Amino acid sequence: MKTLLHIVGWTLGTVLVLQFVQIKIPPAPKATKADEIKAPKEVMAILKTSCYDCHSNETKMPWYGNISPMSIAVHSNIKNGRAWLNFSIFNKYDEKKKQKIYEGIVQTLKIKTMPPPEYLLFHKNARLTKEQEKILHDWAQSLIKED
Ligand code: HEC
Repeated sequence: MKTLLHIVGWTLGTVLVLQFVQIKIPPAPKATKADEIKAPKEVMAILKTSCYDCHSNETKMPWYGNISPMSIAVHSNIKNGRAWLNFSIFNKYDEKKKQKIYEGIVQTLKIKTMPPPEYLLFHKNARLTKEQEKILHDWAQSLIKED
């Protein structure tokens, strides 16, 4: 009984102390509606359900999103995801960066790294179906300028 209490006590203590370990998400960049990516309706629907949590200003934070240690993973995904690609400010990017993004999308679809697997564990509806993969792929591919 005493051991059990010790375990419970240490676990609670650790979780409490962990709350001081937080990764700060930088403030979302300023954006107007005109800065947001424009794409066909079916592409927008895919981006919004499968990518926007980490790649836009419109993050839907899960209930555990601010509780450490989960928040460490959640916050770093949002911070790094937005830094690489933020669909809310897409039209502020120059053509070179946009090209890099279209190529990156084709690439990540091929190697199936997006959305990240740990995110899919908790967001089943974000998993891309074969059909969605094709829609997203064909859209990004059509915008790549070969030179
Ligand atoms: C759970 C958060 C999350 C979701 C959801 C997510 N991404 Fe990402 N994405 C990231 C992070 C973080 C990075 C930064 C690079 C890294 O850590 O791999 C990234 C990087 C990328 C890159 C850059 C290539 C690379 O591997 O470095 C592309 C392209 C990309 N994401 C596309 C997408 C697309 C398209 C979707 C939706 C189908 C999506 N992402 C959904 C977090 C996410």
